[in-house]
This record gives sequence, C-alpha cells and structure tokens, in this order.
Amino acid sequence: MITVYIDNVPYEVKENQNLLQASLSLGFNLPYFCWHPALHSVGACRQCAVKLFKDENDTRGRIVMGCMTAATDGIRYSVEDPEAKGFRGNVTEWLMLNHPHDCPICDEGGECHLQDMTIMSGHNYRRTRFKKRTHLNQNLGPFLNHEMNRCIQCYRCVRFYRDYAGGRDLDVFSAHDEVYFGRFEEGPLESPFSGNLVEICPTGVFTDKTFKEHPVRKWDLQTAPSICTQCGLGCNTIAGERYGTLRRVLNRYNSSVNRYFLCDRGRYGYDFVNHPDRLREPILRTREFARVAADSDGTAGPAGPDVVDGMDGAKMLGRSLEGVVEVTNRVRAIVEGSAKVIGIGSPKASVESNYALRNFVGVENFSTGMPAREHRLNALVAKILSETCGRTVSLAEIEQADAVFVLGEDAVNVAPLLEMALRQSVRTTPDATAEAQLHIPDWDDRAVREAVQAKKGPMFVATPFAVSLDDFAVKSYRGTPDDIAILANAVAHLIDPENAPAPEHLGELERALAETIAGSLGLATKPLVVSGTSLRSESVLEAASNVLTALGKAGKDAGVFLTVAEANSLGNALLGGLDLDEVMSQVAEGEADTLIIMENDLFGRMDASKAEFLLQKAEHVIVLDYLKNRTSDLAEIVVPVATFAESTGTLVNNEGRAQRFYEIMNPDEVVKASWKWVGLFANPHYDGQIVWDSFDYVLDTIARQMPLLAPIKQIAPSAASTKGGLRVPRESHRYSGRTAMTANLSVHEPMPPQDGDSPLSYTMEGRRSNVPPALVSRLWAPHWNSVQSLTRFQEEVDGPLRGGDPGIKVIGNTDNKTTSKGSPDYFTDSEESFHTEEGKFLVLPGYHIYGSEPTSVLSKAVAGRATKGYIGLSEADAAERRLNEGDRIDITIDERSLSLPYRPITGLPKGVCVVPVGTEGVGYLAIPALGDLVGAEERGTR
Ligand code: SF4
Ligand code: SF4
Ligand code: FES
Repeated sequence: MITVYIDNVPYEVKENQNLLQASLSLGFNLPYFCWHPALHSVGACRQCAVKLFKDENDTRGRIVMGCMTAATDGIRYSVEDPEAKGFRGNVTEWLMLNHPHDCPICDEGGECHLQDMTIMSGHNYRRTRFKKRTHLNQNLGPFLNHEMNRCIQCYRCVRFYRDYAGGRDLDVFSAHDEVYFGRFEEGPLESPFSGNLVEICPTGVFTDKTFKEHPVRKWDLQTAPSICTQCGLGCNTIAGERYGTLRRVLNRYNSSVNRYFLCDRGRYGYDFVNHPDRLREPILRTREFARVAADSDGTAGPAGPDVVDGMDGAKMLGRSLEGVVEVTNRVRAIVEGSAKVIGIGSPKASVESNYALRNFVGVENFSTGMPAREHRLNALVAKILSETCGRTVSLAEIEQADAVFVLGEDAVNVAPLLEMALRQSVRTTPDATAEAQLHIPDWDDRAVREAVQAKKGPMFVATPFAVSLDDFAVKSYRGTPDDIAILANAVAHLIDPENAPAPEHLGELERALAETIAGSLGLATKPLVVSGTSLRSESVLEAASNVLTALGKAGKDAGVFLTVAEANSLGNALLGGLDLDEVMSQVAEGEADTLIIMENDLFGRMDASKAEFLLQKAEHVIVLDYLKNRTSDLAEIVVPVATFAESTGTLVNNEGRAQRFYEIMNPDEVVKASWKWVGLFANPHYDGQIVWDSFDYVLDTIARQMPLLAPIKQIAPSAASTKGGLRVPRESHRYSGRTAMTANLSVHEPMPPQDGDSPLSYTMEGRRSNVPPALVSRLWAPHWNSVQSLTRFQEEVDGPLRGGDPGIKVIGNTDNKTTSKGSPDYFTDSEESFHTEEGKFLVLPGYHIYGSEPTSVLSKAVAGRATKGYIGLSEADAAERRLNEGDRIDITIDERSLSLPYRPITGLPKGVCVVPVGTEGVGYLAIPALGDLVGAEERGTR
C-alpha cells in the first residue's frame, strides 16, 4: 500500500494504479469517459483532470489527466481545485457542443454516463446556439441501434471492439474535423461480443435494438439478479421486466466470471421467455388421443388451444387453482397406478428442480436426461475437475495464463466468453515484459500496445478445423479427435516421460509440435489446459487430463478449464442417474411404464425415431416444460413451468461454481418452477399445502441429503434472513405508474405479489444500501446512474464486489492445488475412438453461436443471425466430388439420412465432415460417427 494526498488528506491505496483509479476506489466523484477498468487508460477525452502538486509547499500545481498519471507514494493532488473543476466543466461543454438535446427520447436516458458526468463536472447550462454537426446512422443488424449524433469521440467503442474483442468491422473514420464510429458500409456487426457496446459507450450511440421492440424507461424495469442459461459458463446477468414481458438483459459484474461482458447470444437470446409458444396452462389428454394425434402427422400433436378445443380426449385446464389441483391429482393417480416411474431431468433445469424430481421418483429411477455419450462426458468432466491435478480456473483467471493449450474447442461458438478471455491471455507474457523491461504500467493501454506490437504469448490450438482462436495462436494443429488426443498424450509423455503413457503412431510433425508445446507449458508459471465436451470425445478429454497430470507431477501449478454444453450440465452430472439409453431399454422391456420428463425435449437428445418410440411405448408420459415442443406434443399431461425469469434456483457452471438466479417477474398460481410442481405431486393428499413448500426448505433438504451440494445454501442470503428486516426491492426508487399499471382493472393499487423464496420483494420499498452482492440487480449510487456506478460496488476499482463475488464452487475448488489432489493416474485406454476409414466419412459435430442453442434462436434478433444446417467438407474432398458451395449433398449416419447444402470448411482433414448440431435442418445427431456421403454427382442430380 502507498499513501496519496488528495486535497491534503492522506489516504492508503494499492500500488500500481493511476490517480483516477485511486480516486474512484476511494469514492471520489471524478468524471471520466475514455477510461474503462477493462480497457485501461488512453487519455483521449481530457475529462479526468486533477491538479498535481510537487510537494506540500507547491500552491500553484499543474493540471494533469488523472487516468494518465501514476499514483506514487506521497503524491499530492487535488480533485476539488477550482482550476481543475473549471477545466473539467469546459471539456464537458466542448464535448456537448454537438450532442443533441434528445435525452427524453434516448434509450440511454436515465442511466447515461454522459448525463451523469455533465452534471458532475458542473456543466449545467448550455450556452451554444450554433447548428450542430450531424451524421447519417447505419443499420448495424438486429442487435444494435446506431445514433452517431450522440457521439462524444471517447474512442471506447473501437478500443473495445477491435483491441479487446478482436472485431474488425467497426472502426473510426475521419475527414477534416469530423470523426465517425461505424462500419465501412451498413450491415450486421460481425463480432459475437458487439452487444457490449451498449454498456461500453458512455452515451446513446449504441443502444439495444431488441429493447426498442418493447421500450420502457430504464427506471421502470423490475429487475433481479440472474444467470445466463445459454451455455455452460454461467455469466451473471441482470434481467428487466415490465408488464409481464422480459425486456432486456444486461451484464452483472462478477470478478471471477464474466466481469464486464456478455456475448450476444446471452444478451439477446432472452426473448424465448415472451414467445407465443410458451405453455401457460396445464393440458390433459387421454393417452390414446396423444398417441393418435402424434401418429396423424408424425410431428406435432395437439398442443395449442385451437387444436385442443372441441376435440374429444384433450382439454386445457385454464389458469386457475382448480386446474392446478386437477392436474396434480391426475399425476398422483398415474404415479400411484404405475409399476415404475422414471423421472427424466435436464441439464438446462436448476439443481433444485432436478433434485426434486430425483427425490420424487427415487434415486435409482432418475435420469440425467442425457444420451449415454454426453452423460459419460459430463461425468468425466466432473471427475477431472475433482480428481485430476490442475487448478480449476475461472474465466477471469484465464486472462492471466502465460501458456495455453486448447484441445478440441471452437470456443467462440461453444462458450463464447472463453474466446474473449483467451484473447486476453496471449497478452499476459508480452504485457509483463513491457512492464518489467520498459517500466510501462499495465494500465497505460496505448503505451503497452505500442511496446508490445503484435507479440503474443504462447497459445497452441488443436482442433479439427480452423477456429477463431487461430487468429492469435502461435501454432494451430488440425486433426481428428484421435489425432488431437495423440498429440496431447505426446505432450504429457514429454513432460513426464517416466509415467505418462507414450502414444503410438506419432507422426514427425506431431512430435515436433508436441516438443514445442511441452517446452512452453514447462517454462510457464501459469500454464493452462483448455478442453471440453464439444467434440464429444472421451479420448480428447482424457488426454487433456493427462497433460494436467504430467504438469502436476512436474510441480507446475497448472490451470484447467473445461467447457460443458448447458447451464447446469455439471450440476446435473453431480446428481448422476440413468442415461437416456438406459431409460430406453427399461421402457422397451416393459420394466418402466411411466415417464415424467422435465424441461427436456427428447427430440433434441436422440434420433426422432427413437424419441417417438420411447414416448409411444411408455404407458403414461407427463411433461413439465415452458415451451411447446415435440415431446410436449406427445404427452398425456403437460404441466406449464417457469423459465429462469419466473423462478428461483441454482445452476452449477462448467468450473463447478454454483450460482443463484432469482424470479424477475412474478409467476402465477399455474406457471411455477418445476421444483414447486414436483413438490405438489409429492404430496399424497394435496389440499393446497405442498411438501416442498419453500426454496429454503428445498435447499435444506438438498444440503441434508447430499453433502457435496450443501454449499449451495451459502450462495446467497436465505428468504428467512429477511425476517424482521428489510427485503431488497426489485423496483427502482424511481419506478413509476405502480397504481396506474392496473387501473384498467381497478383503481385500487393491488397488493404486491409475495415472494417466499428469496429475500427480494416486488416493491419499490426496502433495503437499498449494503445489499449483499448476490442480491444486487441495480447499479445506482448518488451521482452515478449508469453502469459505471459499478465502481461504487467494488472493493476497489476492478476488484471483487464488496462482500465477495457471488457463487461458491462445489467441486474443483481453487485452493485444491496439485498437491492436495494426491497422485492421480493417467488415462490409458479410451473407450471410444474416432478416426477416418476408407470409403467412409468421419462426421464430427460443429457449433454456431447463433443456431446451435435451442432457446436463444427463438428470439427474433438471434434467429435473424442463425446459421442453418449444412454439411462441411474440406476443399480437397469437395474438389474430388466437383462440389460448389451450396450444392446439396446427402449423408447417412446409421439409419439417419440428411440432405443439406455443402459448405467448405478450412483446415478440415480429408475424409472428415462437419455437421452443425442443433441447427435448423439438423437437430440432434449421434455423432461423432462414420457416415456415407453421396454428392450431387453420385446421385446423378447435377
Ligand atoms: S460511439 Fe460511443 S464509445 Fe464510441 S467514441 Fe462515440 S461516445 Fe465513445
Ligand atoms: S458466454 Fe455463455 S453464459 Fe456467457 S453470456 Fe454468452 S451464452 Fe451466456
Ligand atoms: S478518462 Fe482520463 S482522459 Fe479520458
């Protein structure tokens, strides 16, 4: 710690900061624009002026930029000096010369950094009467609205987009005295992180275009802390609602997870909550009716009211308590009359919902809802994180890695923010060199970049085809999953030649590369191994584990980061259970006669013919879901459940971090969390009282019955913790129209909904200061209305949240360093192996950020960017078949045939093809597998 004197008062601050950081950490109101805690300083806006004094005798001082001046021990400066304040006011006035007077209709209004800084710098009155400079705006696609007249030329947008996130299609253009921030020509911004411009831009130039579809003033949003459910990383979010519609998703800072950013899938994929296909009332069908309806067209059964009404054998139960009682009693009757009930959970559903179902049907009758291969892979990830050498690192820690080996992951399409974190990690070594040799502090962004130029730290990427990581990797390797596993095992063997198994069939190229990788990892102080389940290859995951084991045995403090596919894949894996293949055989053999399927469309987990067989063969099928889908269409009973936005629960992310999400909007009597519905089913004599009657009770039960998951109780204060105290309001202190909102129904203000499951309230009143970090969903502090008020919630600028970042690791704790994990063994024999075969194609899964995830594509904005199904081949294979891009080709895998357009895939080995799973026209595919490919030539259709 060092001492700085601000306006002659001594303060202790951390070293290696600039004056702006130090001042903000101490709570001073010092205005700024171009500085950002993740982007650091460039000194572009001149807004953060302070007066610097030589010593205590210096009364004159000089104006310096706070963000460009190092805070050194004993330094004296003034924030309140009249000349410094006047300077800041003048700068604001210049910046505002061309800024339009459109705050009342600007989407940024009310949480605008420019509004805040204008007032803070004392520029309260506009003197200028000249015409303002104007620009044409661009259509930047479905995610962002562009209003260039509001620009104050702080350069944050391009620094984030290009320097930090690696985008190329947004830039600054200038002609004489005008600068323009936009694309070379109109068109969707290409970066999958473009939505962060909404929060990066301090004015209303870049605003959320999806929010414009259902606009509302920001202070009128009802908000709650939430977790993104659209990949396995568990980014923290703040979601906002008004009039029962989910309106937007913003980043929620967590210094260990997503820090300041979200990807565009996570930010814009929320609209499925408002989708017309939401199930909002229970449906009862006779079993025969469900079967016949399914047979009639093979795809959609009777789900919508238009189809159900007037048809014998099906009825909608409406949105009433009577309907809840009727469906509950019907489920009870089926369960009591069944020989064996299997509960199929889901890696998309919360720990609580999965646990409730497991409790209800019995441990031995619970299924994770995953096909056998994916089930095994998730369990393997849990095993590696718990047992293998290697510290499970967070997304934030990835940025500090000084040598990285990526095995098999197309990060940007599988776990998007992983890509952004890896992008920062390659700067670790060169940045440290700049600091050590040239004494450039790391916050001096422009100087560091000038010194570093294009130098990169060692990152090695081994994937079947070219991926965005290649842009900043020092070496990339292309091969099948088996080739990748062989390369990684060779690396492990080079690091630990005594114990690590030596791979057979190692080519010369692979041997040389393995030596380079092993050398880099061996020299690093924070080596990192990144892999995951996306290639669906056990051998790749096991080889990654072998590298970690070798590094651990060599005494290295190695980090591991493994991706999983869904928001609660790991939580689901920790519960364990049957896989779907085992469920299939039990139903096929008549051992089990009833299925309860929770938040899991089986047509997304297995071939359609198998899913249909399973659902037809079972005597009774009960589905709990929030969206109509092919599984719910075939169900005898459909129970409408809450999405993440209407329920409270816990998700365990890919690193084993359990995190809580809260109801943003009030569920009603009918649409409730799956765990609540299952609680109703569990009560043999339902009379309005339920067995699992509160979230706290559910958590207590889980903690008692499954000690591994006991820490999830500590993630956040319990609902009971508010007894006798104040709740945390979901509504802002400026929330308006509370009485008027329902005046069309009654002029009396209705009683606010009661939330017995969390310490949050559905009101404006309650606790607003010292709110525990897990409950913060509104960034506001006196003088700070924008997201920049975050510094008021951090222990220090860019540090953890005051009170600690929310979330607790339930496995792979960061303090279980290599030594405390004992001496794990190497994996030697992988059960499955995937390689090419003469006359066949090895079909591998591909992914797309927009298109592969089933809920986000229901949002109109994401759907507009979604990739449709294709068959990807190497250009060499395509040339042999004289294929042009877009030509239709057929592939047959087992008995499933697909006919899709051809797309060239850079880097793909010969004899290998890629099909993007989950995309339109593909759906589920049991791959990797060998397939037969028929091109247009062979078909004779050219
Ligand atoms: S568009 Fe926004 S972020 Fe970019 S320079 Fe202008 S004000 Fe700054
Ligand atoms: S990286 Fe994953 S968890 Fe994070 S915002 Fe994107 S989809 Fe959501
Ligand atoms: S914030 Fe210091 S010059 Fe812009």
